Amino acid sequence: MHLLSTGQLSKQELIQLIESAQRFKSGADQAKPLAGQSVALVFFNPSLRTRASMQVGIYELGGNAVVLEPGGTSWTLEHREHAVMDADKTEHVAEFVRVLGRYCVAIGVRTFAALKNWQEERLDPILEAFAKYSEFPIINLESAMHHPCQAMADMMTIREKLGEGRKRVLLTWAWHSKALPMAVPNSFALAAAQMGHDLISAHPNGYELDDELMEGIRQSAAAADGSVTVTNDVDAAFDKVGVVYAKSWGARKFYGALDKDIDERAQYRGKWLVDEAKMARTNNGIFMHCLPVRRNVIVTDGVIDSAQSVVIDEAENRLHVQKSIMNQLLTR
Ligand code: CP
Repeated sequence: MHLLSTGQLSKQELIQLIESAQRFKSGADQAKPLAGQSVALVFFNPSLRTRASMQVGIYELGGNAVVLEPGGTSWTLEHREHAVMDADKTEHVAEFVRVLGRYCVAIGVRTFAALKNWQEERLDPILEAFAKYSEFPIINLESAMHHPCQAMADMMTIREKLGEGRKRVLLTWAWHSKALPMAVPNSFALAAAQMGHDLISAHPNGYELDDELMEGIRQSAAAADGSVTVTNDVDAAFDKVGVVYAKSWGARKFYGALDKDIDERAQYRGKWLVDEAKMARTNNGIFMHCLPVRRNVIVTDGVIDSAQSVVIDEAENRLHVQKSIMNQLLTR
């Protein structure tokens, strides 16, 4: 089984993974299911948290991490079926994955959206090519559409800070100088709905999440007795929430024309910023962000350095959740 999105897991399975992560965090679980085994980590894009926490997690589970960077320290990769490889790509995913299968027991893959063609990228073609050719688990370390490891660490952090059960959770778009991928907000919104939280998604008009994904989010929320509200009112959105999750993302309609997104979003600078005034409207809410974050652009120093900010614990929980995921995937 692969882990491509939290959408493939039930609420109960998410809770079990979080509880397992808590046992790894407390030291109650010291299992080493990867003893004598290797896991490949394939990074098409930069990373601090994901790369470091996966390497440390694999080590703590008794295994060895093999880090590969296509186009950097390993060959450039083609993923399209039947491609005539007469341009810049040296190796096909078909061989890459099956060769790694002779050395490793799983592959983690990071492959961001290129922000060129929404209709193509929303299907996660590179990640899906890995999943297609692999006979062993593929772990999504952030694709164009999903960042399940981040979302599970986020849900673990909410539970750790605020306890079990339904919370009022705000996902707020934030101004950033350029368009960014949507995987983090997609996965956060989906996981929050799956967990039965009351999700408020706040963004400017035109920055809606994917329609099909939103339909799945609404269905997940209904199944878990939660709710979904979408608003363009960045101030009222903060009223009485227990969690503020900030993230910037690009508008789907500007994929392939990113200068237009920069022009469009200019009007939101300063207004779509998490500051002390907005946090004061919350129910003593915690501040969350996946990191890296641009200080005084997405969030003020006053908020990220306050007692309400849990971003470092959130980043730590990536380690524990990923150990839980690998333990689950590799000991079936
Ligand atoms: N949150 C997250 O995925 O961080 P990195 O991009 O540093 O891995």
